Amino acid sequence: MRILKGTSNPALAENLSKVLGASMVDRELARFPDGELYLRIKESVEGQDIVLVQSTYPDDNSVQFLLLSSTLKDLGARSVIGVIPYYGYARQDRVFKDGESFSARTMARHLRMDLDHVICVNLHKEATLSAFDPLKSAANVSVMGVIGSFVKNKGVEFVLSPDKGAIGYARETAGAAGCGFDHLEKTRIDGRSVMMTPKKLDVRGKAVCIVDDIIATGGTILKAQELLRGQGAREVFACCAHGLFTGGGRDRLEPVLDGLFSSDTIENPTSSFSAAVPVATRIREILE
Ligand code: R5P
Repeated sequence: MRILKGTSNPALAENLSKVLGASMVDRELARFPDGELYLRIKESVEGQDIVLVQSTYPDDNSVQFLLLSSTLKDLGARSVIGVIPYYGYARQDRVFKDGESFSARTMARHLRMDLDHVICVNLHKEATLSAFDPLKSAANVSVMGVIGSFVKNKGVEFVLSPDKGAIGYARETAGAAGCGFDHLEKTRIDGRSVMMTPKKLDVRGKAVCIVDDIIATGGTILKAQELLRGQGAREVFACCAHGLFTGGGRDRLEPVLDGLFSSDTIENPTSSFSAAVPVATRIREILE
């Protein structure tokens, strides 16, 4: 088995190559003068199992994913395992208003074309995986256990999810950190701000970590940390799988938190832990 990296996640691909003891496939990616992508795979992949590591956000990265996966198949790869660290359009996971695009499903239907298996990381809704049918397998792996071990070393004593839907993330993180957990109830007001239903939490004097799959504008974490500070939390950290940080999200959060951390599914200055081990575990299961 070997690894082909796109341009979205070089650090994760390198980590994966170390964890799996797999070499990188040599490739060239450049731009034509009109801005279109040029791709060439520079060595034979015939008869080999190839792990393609490439996110599908922003849009340009989806084109790269399609060209990389289809070229692998054209060159006779035995199997192509698509690792999509951050899956673009994951949050448009249904039709909210009549006439809208069901974008998460549409993207899967196209991305799967030249894959045998797909592995996503903390996909916003697990149900999106069904849109990858009829691949041999479609999996959603989680970095929450990795986050749990990371925050345990920081002395975190309580884990909180900012909404009920994310309680699974808090449970998994707290399990690895060996501490208690709870959730808040969130109502979204607009793209940048949310409301939290007041709730008494067991956090006085404690170091608390808020966990979520994605941090975008930071509005969700901002409100949750206000509530935690108001109830006497000693330290407040925030961790997520995907540090998207749109619209100045990081600048809003860093001054009010004791630490802001994300994984390498979207490489950014807060990337502090890797999705490589959970992804590698799934790859081994596929290939055994
Ligand atoms: C939404 O359901 C997600 O799990 C995150 O809570 C959301 O994407 C965070 O967005 P923001 O940082 O803009 O509040």
